[in-house]
Amino acid sequence: MQITSFKQYEEDYKKSVENPEQFWGEVAQNFQWRKPWYKVLSWNFKDPEIKWFEGAKLNITENCLDRHLAANGDKPSIIWEPNNTEEESVTYTYKMLHERVCRFANVLKRNGAKKGDRICIYMPMVPELAIAVLACARIGAVHSVIFGGFSAKSIADRINDSQCKLVITADGAYRGNKQIPLKEVIDDALIGCPTVEKCIVLTHVRTPVSMLKGRDVWWEDEVKHVNDICEAEEMDAEDMLFILYTSGSTGKPKGVVHTCGGYMVYAGYTFTNVFNYKPGEVYFCTADIGWITGHSYIVYGPLSQGATSVLFEGIPTYPNPSRFWDIIEKHKVNTLYTAPTAIRSLMSFGEEPLIGKDLSSIRVLGSVGEPINEEAWHWFDEKIGHGKAPLVDTWWQTETGGIMISPIATVTPTKPGFATLPLPGIQPILVDEHGKEIEGNGISGNLCIKFPWPGMLRTTYGDHERCKQTYFSTYENLYFTGDGCLRDEDGYYRITGRVDDVLNVSGHRIGTAEVENAINMHAGVVESAVVGYPHDVKGQGIYAFVINPEMHGEAELTKKDILQTVTRVIGAIAKPDKILFVSGLPKTRSGKIMRRILRKIAEGDTGNLGDTSTLLDPAVVDEIIEAAKKQ
Ligand code: WTA
Repeated sequence: MQITSFKQYEEDYKKSVENPEQFWGEVAQNFQWRKPWYKVLSWNFKDPEIKWFEGAKLNITENCLDRHLAANGDKPSIIWEPNNTEEESVTYTYKMLHERVCRFANVLKRNGAKKGDRICIYMPMVPELAIAVLACARIGAVHSVIFGGFSAKSIADRINDSQCKLVITADGAYRGNKQIPLKEVIDDALIGCPTVEKCIVLTHVRTPVSMLKGRDVWWEDEVKHVNDICEAEEMDAEDMLFILYTSGSTGKPKGVVHTCGGYMVYAGYTFTNVFNYKPGEVYFCTADIGWITGHSYIVYGPLSQGATSVLFEGIPTYPNPSRFWDIIEKHKVNTLYTAPTAIRSLMSFGEEPLIGKDLSSIRVLGSVGEPINEEAWHWFDEKIGHGKAPLVDTWWQTETGGIMISPIATVTPTKPGFATLPLPGIQPILVDEHGKEIEGNGISGNLCIKFPWPGMLRTTYGDHERCKQTYFSTYENLYFTGDGCLRDEDGYYRITGRVDDVLNVSGHRIGTAEVENAINMHAGVVESAVVGYPHDVKGQGIYAFVINPEMHGEAELTKKDILQTVTRVIGAIAKPDKILFVSGLPKTRSGKIMRRILRKIAEGDTGNLGDTSTLLDPAVVDEIIEAAKKQ
């Protein structure tokens, strides 16, 4: 199923469009099924209802573990690189990983988990996180991994939305020179989570934690009570595999639902092709498993292909900005898949951190999460790839399950700033605001997908209507991505960023409405409006315009109070970079905030604010501009 020439890409693409069922049916033969499908695809985008590989039975962990044991059992599956350099890295062979997953799956059963139960995972980037994820899949439980940067309230909202029965966490996490008290955060969350019966706690940083009798148990104790034999649960291709919460343009995050069969096929197929993975190579994705990139391209994609995946606990700048380069040298990494924000941050340290580092093992480079600016593209290409490693700029989303528009390494000619061409099976179209297709090349529009692919979301947990409204109702019979896009003269795609009220801060997706709700929870705040502005390292920064008449004369302290409130309500990742106190917001007569104007002010581009004649009180704009200048 690996594409090795551009001609083959063109042929496969053609076939995937003309005969999608045959195409995906053939790709799926490369996986292990307990029972074959009777129908490859049935679908409509109206409801929406999408089913891939109907009737087929499988367990994704048999594809990620068991099927590699006979020939590759002693091959490394996960290489763990700890945050602290004085600790040793740990290599798990496929045999070891299989054994740990089966054992922990039995721990889950022992603690009452069964097929279909939802399990929340809030853990550091340690091998046990991958083990917990796979153990859930082994027994058919649905995992909902929550990124370590979210607050107790965010966790509680997510746990309650999907009525999780069990939580898996650790005492704490290392993040550079900081420690994050994960169990403490979970304890706060669980005060408001009546469905949670058990909490399994891994010892990691050895910080004291409270352990509640009857609810909390230690990972290390539990694994002693079970053996390592655990038959995989037989799953239907369309049974739920996991939920992953993501932000949208409205206040509440949505639980994006992925199912077993289609997701597996899509994650595996895209992994092997986009990165041109060769058996025996070492692949390093720097994302966190708390995000979709970690799900698809640290755990499921690489393991389904028998690859060796590096799992890094730390951050790019700790103990110094050579860390990535040291890891590459130490583990002879062949593929590095990272985010533009990390590249820009490392670029800012100049060339010194690269001196004397052996990066000769690098064969393929990848970027994900936000548009990559040309300067960062060239730096990555030249300094890390030495101009020899194809750089794949991969566009996709939590909802798409896997990479959608991207070069295929060694096959597709790349172009800086461009995600280039759709992968086989992906049919993008650009539409104007009325949903009319804009045809031809050298054009821009809103990016939609007009045909299903196996990795696409099936629903949003507990609220199918929301899935329909968010993705399938803006334009009839199309999946709407929320991204703007350019198709150049060569037919190459360049993603220009979100066209909805979603920000992309250091590759983290954050809804403006969510941040506004959090700011508005501060006692003194009357109203707020949040917009993004260009930020050198983060891609976008968060700019908050806040009406707060009761500052007790202490603006700086009040700003800190607001930041503290946002940290409590969402988590530190959503803290505004700038707060400006204003006496009013630019609103239309119908009460809608004109964010367009605020965006211009946040960008410092107040020369031409466009038409402001529909504003209720145009004077407020001048006042905000003056205040912004003074800041
Ligand atoms: C943005 C991350 C430009 C885009 C996998 C998308 C990108 C959102 C790229 C999804 C890219 C992701 N070029 N923009 N290569 N990759 N995006 O759900 O706006 O965390 O809609 O998934 O990130 O973010 P999410």
